[in-house]
Amino acid sequence: MKRESGLLVLCFVTVLAFSQQNANYDESKVPSYVLPELLKCENGESVTTVEQWENKRRPELLDLFGRHMYGTIPAEKINVSYDIVSENREALGGKATSKQVRFTFSNGDKKNEAYLLLFIPNKPKGKVPIIVGYNFKGNHSTTTDTMIIYSPALCLALEPGSPDWVRGSQASRWSYDLIIDRGYAIATMCYHDIFPDKPELKDHSVISLFSGYNSQKTDPAEWQAIGAWAWGSSRIVDFLEGEEKIDTNKIAIMGHSRQGKAALWAGAIDPRFQIVFSNESGCGGAALFRRKYGETAEIINFKFPHWFCVNFRQYNDKEEKLPVDQHQLLALIAPRKVYVASAEGDRWSDPKGEFLSAYHAGPVYKLYGLSTIESDEMPGLHAPIMEDIGYHIRAGKHDVTEYDWKCYLDFADKHFKK
Ligand code: GCU
Repeated sequence: MKRESGLLVLCFVTVLAFSQQNANYDESKVPSYVLPELLKCENGESVTTVEQWENKRRPELLDLFGRHMYGTIPAEKINVSYDIVSENREALGGKATSKQVRFTFSNGDKKNEAYLLLFIPNKPKGKVPIIVGYNFKGNHSTTTDTMIIYSPALCLALEPGSPDWVRGSQASRWSYDLIIDRGYAIATMCYHDIFPDKPELKDHSVISLFSGYNSQKTDPAEWQAIGAWAWGSSRIVDFLEGEEKIDTNKIAIMGHSRQGKAALWAGAIDPRFQIVFSNESGCGGAALFRRKYGETAEIINFKFPHWFCVNFRQYNDKEEKLPVDQHQLLALIAPRKVYVASAEGDRWSDPKGEFLSAYHAGPVYKLYGLSTIESDEMPGLHAPIMEDIGYHIRAGKHDVTEYDWKCYLDFADKHFKK
C-alpha cells in the first residue's frame, strides 16, 4: 500500500472511531428535554383547527425545516425530459412489464441524466398503486436482470472493480416479486444520479444546474444533497403522472436510512406522496434530535457535510436550540399517512427516538380526526402498529428486509384498498 493511501485509511478509521465513540447508547444518559410545540405558532397562538394548522403553523414549520435543516429548494423550474429506452412485457417471469426511462435534466448547455427503473404488474388490467424509492448502488444492483442499464453517476460514486458493480448485489432489499404479487408497481432510481453522494461531487449534482449555483460559495440556507434527493423524487412523480397504468392518487415513497431522511422531507413538501415509509431513517430522519442517542447533529454534519444546509451546523451539540424536532417533520405529512420502521440492532438510528417521533406527531393527525399511536410504550418486536400513523420494530440489523416490505404492503393495503 502506498504511504499516502495508508495515511488516508488511518485518518478515515480515526474519524470513524471518533464519531462512533461520541455516540451515547445509554438510555439513562438521554438528557431530559422539551420538544418544540407542534400546535403552537411562533407567536404563541394555539392551533386548534385544521385551517389554522394548514394556513399558519404548517407553513411556518416547513419554512423552519427548510432554513435550519434541509435547505430551501429553489422555486426555479429546470427542463426535465423523459425517454422510454426499453420496455419488456415479460419481466419478472412474465408477471410484470418493466420500463427504463432516461430523465434528462437541463438548463442551458448543462445537463445531467438519470435512469428510472419501473416494474408494473401485468395483472390486474386497471390502474395500480405504486411505491417509489431510491436505490444506493444503481438500478442494476436491485435485480439480476441483464437488461438493466448501469446508472450514469455510478462511475463517479463507485470504485472501479468494486463488488457493487455486480448485478443483483442489493436485490435482497428490493422484494420485487412480493410487491408485484401484491398488485403494486415499483419505481427506483439510483440516488447518485441526482446527487452523487460525496461532498466534492456537488458540481455533478442536479443542484449545479440551477441558476445562481456557485461551486465556491454555499449560502447558509441553500439546499444540499437531501434537498436534491427529495426534489428528484418529485420529478419521478411528474413522470408517473403521464403513465396510464399508475393510479396517481396512490403513490407511496419508501426510503432507507439516508434515503428515509430524504423521503420524509419529500413527503413533507410534496402532497402527491400519499404514504411515506421511513425505513431506519435515524438522525435527521425520524429520530428525535433532542434525545442525543446514537448519531447526533455533530456527528452527521462532520461525516456528511453535504447533506444538510450550512445553517444546520450551528446545532452541533446544541440540539435543544433547534427550532424544530422530527415529530414535527412527520406531522407535516398529515393527513397523508406515515409509517416509521426501526431495527432492534440499529442503535445508531435510535429506534426509540424514531418511535417517539411517530408518537408525538399524533396531535396533528388527531386534528384531522385520524387515528394515531396511542401509547408512548414501544411495541414489541414484529408487532406492527397500523393506524393512520404506523410503526414497527423488527429483529436484526440496519437493512431493508422482506419483513419490512410485507409490513409496508399491509399498511398500503389498509389505506389504498379500503
Ligand atoms: C450512515 C449515517 C446515517 C445514515 C446511514 C445510511 O450510517 O451515519 O445517518 O442513515 O449511513 O444511509 O445507511
